[in-house]
Amino acid sequence: MANTAKGKVCVTGASGFIASWLVKRLLESGYHVLGTVRDPGNHKKVGHLWDLEGARERLELVRADLLEEGSFDDAVMACEGVFHTASPILTKSDSKEQMLNSAINGTLNVLRSCKKNPLLKRVVLTSSSSTVRIKDEADLPPNVLLDETSWSSIEYCESLQIWYAVAKILAEKAAWGFAKEHKIDLVTVLPTFVIGPSLSPELGPTASDVLGLFQGETGKFTVYGRMGYVHIDDVASCHILAYEAAGAQGRYICNAVVLDCGDLAALLARRFPSYPIPKSLPNIYGEQSYDYDTSKARALGMRGYKGVEEMFDDAVESLVGHGHLPTENASTGSLL
Ligand SMILES: NC(=O)c1ccc[n+]([C@@H]2O[C@H](COP(=O)([O-])OP(=O)(O)OC[C@H]3O[C@@H](n4cnc5c(N)ncnc54)[C@H](OP(=O)(O)O)[C@@H]3O)[C@@H](O)[C@H]2O)c1
Repeated sequence: MANTAKGKVCVTGASGFIASWLVKRLLESGYHVLGTVRDPGNHKKVGHLWDLEGARERLELVRADLLEEGSFDDAVMACEGVFHTASPILTKSDSKEQMLNSAINGTLNVLRSCKKNPLLKRVVLTSSSSTVRIKDEADLPPNVLLDETSWSSIEYCESLQIWYAVAKILAEKAAWGFAKEHKIDLVTVLPTFVIGPSLSPELGPTASDVLGLFQGETGKFTVYGRMGYVHIDDVASCHILAYEAAGAQGRYICNAVVLDCGDLAALLARRFPSYPIPKSLPNIYGEQSYDYDTSKARALGMRGYKGVEEMFDDAVESLVGHGHLPTENASTGSLL
């Protein structure tokens, strides 16, 4: 149930995996939400948003595209806060320049709209832990605790052709530069790998990776190596805290647990024995032991993160519910 009436906030890319949960939690806590999507008439993509509690009374969906200059002006002008979660889809056929330009310009496009609204209180940008943790071995000493002062090495990411990380680093840095120059109150949230139920029946990029692992694919998670994981509900809460806390500033890592890919696979293979999950995965980066210092988000109010078992239980239930994975028969251990 909504508690009290709150203001109107804009969520960009509202139909996305993370954004949909954010919209759900914002509606539940009493906000009016103006969500931007590329096609408000596409029921397959936005239908789940209209099913959310409070949506009929307090949700509006409008069209906006990151790649069209000024596209977010009207949406942002109508709001007192902005959650910028939309992210252009990077495809293998795009050149490196196209990928990086669309990531940087997409973010600046939204911020240029924000600059035009003098009543805007704060912008919360969804960045990523990939802007923090990707460094060569020499810069990741054993058991290092990475905090918000850490930035991934662009040179190292380029050498490994991790264009997603390069795009996220450049987009976040461009956002900080623009916000400082134009005195925009910007806060960034840096989630690790986000796991949990998808509100949309569509299979997004993150759910596809999890589905692949449950179907026995080894490639993606092997390349992910040691990785942080966080439940999608905690990611939504962290965004809302970052928006509401008067003293929030700078970057906030949002992470529950860090695991080597082999340990994650072994844990999941034990927990879900009917699925052909690989029982181990190679450690292609050698020994890694970094973890995250999450005290900054804790000071904001983020406590009691959901654990890795709950994240994957919820993700699997959702993949089964949407018909992407067969059901596991708990008593016989077979797939239905
Ligand atoms: N998932 C994770 O594990 C994770 C971890 C850390 C950070 N993040 C960050 O979190 C944000 C959301 O990720 P997600 O996993 O929720 O991704 P997602 O499900 O793919 O959502 C991305 C959204 O961006 C929208 N979009 C794509 N191109 C657009 C364009 N040109 N103009 C306007 N909107 C556009 C899409 O809208 P359409 O419906 O129109 O296609 C989609 O709703 C991203 O910034 C991502 O980098 C994700």
